[in-house]
Parts: sequence; structure tokens; C-alpha cells
Amino acid sequence: MPKKLKKMNHWTPLFTQEEIQTRVKELGRELSRDFANKDVLALGVLKGACIFFSDLIRSIETPLTVDFFITSSYEKTKSSGNLKVHYEKQETAKDKNVLIIDDIVDTGLTLKLLREQILKENPRSVKICTLLDKKEKRKVEVEVDYVGFEIPDLFVVGYGLDYENKFRNLPFIAEFISKQ
Ligand code: IMP
Repeated sequence: MPKKLKKMNHWTPLFTQEEIQTRVKELGRELSRDFANKDVLALGVLKGACIFFSDLIRSIETPLTVDFFITSSYEKTKSSGNLKVHYEKQETAKDKNVLIIDDIVDTGLTLKLLREQILKENPRSVKICTLLDKKEKRKVEVEVDYVGFEIPDLFVVGYGLDYENKFRNLPFIAEFISKQ
């Protein structure tokens, strides 16, 4: 990391690499059981879920197909409340068991909208899996079926999560405090 950035910001570790890997494997086992013998479409919500998605699908033993959405709603450390969809999946959800995989649920706006959009294609089922859940920040109701860790109202980075598109490659998750 550039020295200048190091001086302006700091982070407090929240989940180690080992804790994350253990939880991802547990989720993988649960999903392998629940989706056994089903036609699964795993949908990653990028960019934040890029690392969680790659690790999680390799822990799921059921054969599956993959596709992605690229969305954004955050400005620095706050939700703008204005969801932008930059890329939309190409695979149809019709008759599929859709598993949406996201990095973190905050207001719930992103997943509510994506879920509604997918339901229009008549899938067999739609389930949501998130690595992190900031339950107390919810503005709209959305049913989350699989949660890695519940966290309080902190801004976090690492393991795919960013601050201004940085820090995604940290192998751990940390609370991020911007001093700018
Ligand atoms: P929601 O639509 O408010 O639920 O926001 C979900 C999206 O906001 C996530 O997929 C992240 O990209 C982003 N986000 C929410 N909280 C954080 C955070 O603490 N760190 C980094 N990104 C976050």
C-alpha cells in the first residue's frame, strides 16, 4: 500500500484469514447438502463478492453454472441509496435454483432489487447467501438464507470489500477508518 494512504487511514482486524476460510467451508457443506441434485445457478454480485464467490463455489460439491451482476451503490463509506447495475447476468434463471452470493448486506436495497428482477424469470427457487450481514442497517426487508458472520454497524474492507475500490486483496476483513 502507498505510504501516503497508510498514514491517512487505519484498520482494526475483525476476521482472520483462517476464520473466514473455516466459515466458508461450513457454508459450502451446508449448501452442498441443501442443493444436492438440483440445477443450480450461482450468481455473484460484483465487485465485492469476487473473492467470497470464488472460494465458496469451490466448497460446493453440487455441479453448478455461474454468472454475475456488477452493481454499485456506495460512495466512500455510505450507501447512496441509488443502485447502479453496470452489468447484468446473461444466463436465464428460468427453472433454475438460483443462489445469489453477495459480500455484505447493509440497507438491503441491492439484494431486494436483484431478487425481484430474478423472480420475474420464473426460477424454481431463489436463495441468498452473504458473507457479512449488517442487520441493524437494514432499510428494506430482504430474506437472507445463509449468513457467514453478523457484524455491527462498521465499515469494513478486505476479502473483496473495498474503500474506493481499494483493499479488496487483503486476505482478512478489518474495520476501516478513513482519516481523510
Ligand atoms: P446495500 O444495498 O445497502 O445492502 O449494500 C450492499 C453493498 O454495499 C455491498 O454489496 C457492498 O458493495 C457495499 N457495502 C456495504 N457495506 C459495506 C462495508 O462495510 N464495506 C464495503 N462495502 C460495503
